[in-house]
Formats: sequence, C-alpha cells, structure tokens
Amino acid sequence: MERKLKILLEYTSKITNEKDIRKILILLTDLAKEIIEADRCSIFLHDDSKGTLWTIVAHGVERIEIPDNKGLVGHVFNSGEVLNINDAYKDRRFDKEIDKKTGYRTKSVLTMPLFDRNGKTIGVFQVINKKNSEYFSNEDINLLKHISLYASSTLENAILYEKLKKAHQDVIYRLSHATKFKDPETQNHIIRVGLYCEILSKEIGLNEDEVEIVKLAAPMHDIGKVGIPDRVLLKPGKLDNDEWEIMKKHTIYGYEILKGSESYLLKVASQIALEHHEKWDGSGYPYGKKGEEISIYGRMTAISDVFDALTSERPYKKAWSIDETLEFFKINRGKHFDPKLTDIFIKNIDSFYSIKRELRDEDI
Ligand SMILES: [Fe+2]
Ligand SMILES: [Fe+2]
Repeated sequence: MERKLKILLEYTSKITNEKDIRKILILLTDLAKEIIEADRCSIFLHDDSKGTLWTIVAHGVERIEIPDNKGLVGHVFNSGEVLNINDAYKDRRFDKEIDKKTGYRTKSVLTMPLFDRNGKTIGVFQVINKKNSEYFSNEDINLLKHISLYASSTLENAILYEKLKKAHQDVIYRLSHATKFKDPETQNHIIRVGLYCEILSKEIGLNEDEVEIVKLAAPMHDIGKVGIPDRVLLKPGKLDNDEWEIMKKHTIYGYEILKGSESYLLKVASQIALEHHEKWDGSGYPYGKKGEEISIYGRMTAISDVFDALTSERPYKKAWSIDETLEFFKINRGKHFDPKLTDIFIKNIDSFYSIKRELRDEDI
C-alpha cells in the first residue's frame, strides 16, 4: 500500500505540472504500468471518420491502428464492458496479429472502455501481462478505473484541442489565400512557406510554442495583396514604376490587416507581412530595414518564400534546379538573406525539398 501511495503521489505532481495533453497520457500509462505492475499499457483513441482505434500512447510498440470491431479492444469499445482475461490465447475474441508482428506474447489482459462526459465511448485503456501473478486482481481493476476516469477527461480535451487546432489552421490557410482567383501563388505555396519556417525556427532553437506560431504566421505573408487593385495584381506583363510602387504596398496592407491584435500569432504575422521583402543589406522594401532591424520571423520568411518561388514552375518561368537555387542563396548570403539563417537553410536543404515534394501544387 505504501509503495502504491508513493507512486501515486509521485505521478500526481508530475501530471499537475504537465500541460501537454499527450505527455499527460504518457504519464497516465506509466502510472498504470507501475501501480498495477503490468508489463505494457496502451490508450486507444477512436477515429470516428475511419472507424478505427489507434494508440495515442503505447508502451513497447509503434503506432497500432485496428478496425473498431476487432480484437479485445474492439469488443470493449463496442460493448462498454470491462474485460479481465487471464490467458488471451484462449479467448476467441483476441487478435493474435499484433503479437505475430511484434514477437510479443500476450497473456493476461485487462481492457477498459473510456467514456466522455455524455457517456459516449471515445477510446480504450488496456494493460497487458501482470507481473508476478497470472492475472489482474479486483484491486487492479479498481485502480485502473480511477486512472481511466482521468484518462477519459484528458482524452476528451485532446480531441477538442485537436479539432480546434485543425479548424484554426484551416481558417488561416484559407484566409491567407483570399486572393486565390487573382494571384498565381497556390494554396500549397502558402502552407509550404510555413513548413519551411518551422524547420528554420527549430534549427535556431526557438521553443515549441514559437515554432508553432511561426509555422502558422508565415502563411499570411501576402495577405495584403487583397488591397492591390486588379489592374496591377492581374497585369500580365512587367509592372511600370508606379505600378511597382503600388504592388510593394501589399506588405503595409498586410501589416494593417493583422496588426493591433492581442494574439501573439497575429503580432508575429503582422511583422512577417510587413518584413518579408526586406533584405539583410537594407535594399528591400517597404522601409529598407537592415540586418537585425528585420525580425527573425521576417528573415526566415524571406528565405522560405524565395526558395519556394524559385523552385516552383510558373507560367512565365521554369522551376530552378537545386544547383541554381543553391548558387543563388550562396551569392545572396549576407545581401538579400541573413547569413546565419542562409547557412542553416543550406545545411537543411534536403528537408526543404522533401516538403516541396510532399506538398506539390498539383495536389490541391
Ligand atoms: Fe509578398
Ligand atoms: Fe509568397
């Protein structure tokens, strides 16, 4: 009892200090494993759109995804029952496939449904192979019930959070492409620029929250183009001087649209909109800012935006080769682009190209 209390106290303080939902779920499976003395634990989450159950966290195995009517997990998901089985191989509902793949031997299994606040089953908690005993006891079942209650509410928050995050991202990507009928840039260009900035910001050591912010803020860089008159934005040939001056204003318009919000994301986005055409040597626009007068976000977006433009095919130009692109960045290191960021970009150019390949313009 004393041992269990100690484990519980230790985990309670870890869990209350953790705000990352996935890490809380990992802590809950670790807690279940230690306190119940099982070999492995997994939490399965139901995917309503695919009709599958997948391991949001699991000990000892890679991500598993199974049809929601298969195996003990599927049975528990559909029946809402708690199943406590001493020898899984003697139970016809048990699916041996996963053991076959992983070379593991499942014996005792305790499987429990996870419900949301409305009583709908949203997932399954499973503990496998009781240590020092042939089976899980009633006390184990009770302990797992308590942990499952906590896991259910965390899981419910995880689902809500994921949905919100997706909706948030979708709104940003779509609004960033408000000029889709007028601007040759594609929706995937917008998304890719965010993903390139994600690489750069990780490499320069920004923290996880900031990385996420830059990834979503950079796609809004050209949002100010909605303020550019059609005669300029849609002009097929070269712009004359006056038209070019008008075109440059998309940076200021973007800033005006996005500035003044309390949201840190929009603050960063407004900065990026304003600065993505500034150059390290001060020869950019709209203000000719120099070096570190340009925010790190603006400097990262400049590299990402230009890389994507050069390597994309457009009606008026071919896509540049990797050698031509590298040469351009080497020449412009310290001129157009921040030299340190250019070095990081060159070091990671393969990751840039894999984003480019994965998210091609034809895929829209
Ligand atoms: Fe722009
Ligand atoms: Fe762009």
